[in-house]
Amino acid sequence: DLLAPAKQDMAGMMLVITAGPTHEAIDPVRYIANASTGKMGYAIAREASRRGATVTLVSGPVSLAAPRGVCVVPVVSASQMRDATVAAFTNADAAICAAAVADYTPAAPADHKLKKGTDDLSTLRLVKTADILAELSHAKGDRVVVGFAAETNDLLKNARAKLERKGCDLIVANDVSRADSTFGADTSRIALVWPDRTEQLDTLPLDQVASAICDRVVAAVSGEGA
Ligand code: CTP
Ligand code: CA
Repeated sequence: DLLAPAKQDMAGMMLVITAGPTHEAIDPVRYIANASTGKMGYAIAREASRRGATVTLVSGPVSLAAPRGVCVVPVVSASQMRDATVAAFTNADAAICAAAVADYTPAAPADHKLKKGTDDLSTLRLVKTADILAELSHAKGDRVVVGFAAETNDLLKNARAKLERKGCDLIVANDVSRADSTFGADTSRIALVWPDRTEQLDTLPLDQVASAICDRVVAAVSGEGA
């Protein structure tokens, strides 16, 4: 931030970004989670804010500092992330869903710590969570919605299927089976999957990945390429 002043090409833009994992309670002391660190979503929030955007960052539980100038809305569960994100999207120009949202949540979280002697811990009944990206895409009108796809196999095929199934403008696909692109890495090798084309980028530091994604959002919001 103390180096060169950023170009202000996102000035006036309102952005909502989701980041991090979600935690789905099993009981008061246990939860289901995943390996997301939030680094990608936070890097995008930092870059968009530097470039002048007003950013609401709906963040699951992570150990990252709030980027300068960004409004962080902390949430825990997928259900809380859904409510906060839908609310923030009401007056946003674009949304970027970088969170690794839990796909399932315990159907009936216990109100007490489960005990192996007396409670049946051998099965856990789960129900599907709401798909935030699909919901925003459905409600977007001419606004821009970007999703992510973290895959270990059939990357581009799975990413394109997600683009079509969810109805977003762009899917940022990354192969998390690669050490240079996996959860927690400080680099990522992404492909940008659009309805009519795919762009493959090199392995880059996350701040440069964030910058590339912001470039595409600026173009899409101004009506190019979306
Ligand atoms: N996503 C979301 N809400 C969910 C699940 C996913 O908003 N309940 C978003 C993620 O933030 C990401 C995109 O959807 O931008 C793709 O997430 P991913 O987990 O890759 O896709 P799923 O549709 O959940 O499919 P699967 O996990 O089976 O690959
Ligand atoms: Ca998923």
